[in-house]
Amino acid sequence: MAYVVTRLAAYSVRGLERIGEEELRDTLPAYTLLSISPKLVRFESAWDPRAFSALRTIDDLGIELADPTTITTDDELRTLIAELPIDTARQIIESARPLDSDEISVTVTARSSQLGNQAAIQAVVADTLRQRKVGLVVDGRRGSLDLRVFVDAETVSVSARVFDKPLFHRSYRRAVVVGAIRPTVAAAMLRLMSPKPGQSIWDPFCGSGTILCEAALLHLPIAGGDYSPDAIAAARTNLEAIDPRLSTVPNQIDARNTPQWRANVDSLLVTNLPWNQQVRITRGLNGEIGDALGRRMSVGGAGVCILTTRPDRVMRIAQQRSTAVLDVHQGNLGVLGQVPTLTVVETRDAEGSTPSSRSRRIASLLQRVETPEYAGRG
Ligand SMILES: C[S@@+](CC[C@H](N)C(=O)[O-])C[C@H]1O[C@@H](n2cnc3c(N)ncnc32)[C@H](O)[C@@H]1O
Repeated sequence: MAYVVTRLAAYSVRGLERIGEEELRDTLPAYTLLSISPKLVRFESAWDPRAFSALRTIDDLGIELADPTTITTDDELRTLIAELPIDTARQIIESARPLDSDEISVTVTARSSQLGNQAAIQAVVADTLRQRKVGLVVDGRRGSLDLRVFVDAETVSVSARVFDKPLFHRSYRRAVVVGAIRPTVAAAMLRLMSPKPGQSIWDPFCGSGTILCEAALLHLPIAGGDYSPDAIAAARTNLEAIDPRLSTVPNQIDARNTPQWRANVDSLLVTNLPWNQQVRITRGLNGEIGDALGRRMSVGGAGVCILTTRPDRVMRIAQQRSTAVLDVHQGNLGVLGQVPTLTVVETRDAEGSTPSSRSRRIASLLQRVETPEYAGRG
């Protein structure tokens, strides 16, 4: 297919929209941002399935089939669906993957909608497609063409998913443990920290190894472990799927054990602390781990990026180190009904304390998107 510019919709974990947008901007050819709103980044870029499939921080990608439209009634929704260019979408997608049937499915995401709940919206869209006879509309499973209907209050946008699996799917992920994070969240944490080539990543609460796997895919050196033998087994399985030589990296460790922190003092600490209800930590952040984390936040310390449901504790530790800590950036994420906080602690270097461009970048990437922000035309 010729080098065509296409309008696309990138779906993101709530709170990671700006990090996703940065990745799109940095990696896609002929990229132009159209708008950024909660969970959705709209943009134009050259049609490049290979570049799309390499995106790490975006949950999924669709070809935009209609401009976002204000819709308040079922009839208006029917009119929108009746005019969607389904055949054109099929032609474009077929240049990325074979469409082996004429099945169409509908996936709805809805927030504060007057059109009813997701099932009600799905039923109206599916019924309209059936009347159009544009394919066999299937319920409860994904057809070869999947329409994603995204409803944010009164604004409806519709896209056709580019790939048959969502972008957050990772082929390395063969085993998971309770509390495992979405790979796109791990990828976003790493992007936020912008490690230099060769900078090692350390995750002492590695669980099934999602952060370590994403770091390994960036060819960064990794180290880490977990208290639970089941977690170690899962992490080894996943890392082995990336490179068999990595399967020996995670070891059974107790993160309360100070030598672990000393041994990895120069690495970037990127981790996801045990979530309160999900995974118990034998003794909390007030104990040895808090002390070790505090020492990590000393002058000249390597960066710290933590995903936690108890950011107050991390904050308290940072405040106790106020002479060493230059800046703390926080952003709330929305994942599977939880609202964990991403906390990045930046420490002063030996020379001074002026906020660096790195610090400004992190602050702007964690800035919350509340309402649609439009850029350029669109
Ligand atoms: C939220 S989970 C991490 C999940 C991981 N990011 C993933 O994607 O699978 C937290 C992990 O901390 C581990 N953990 C709890 N206490 C620990 C300790 N004292 N030392 C090391 N690991 C510990 C738990 O076994 C659990 O796997």
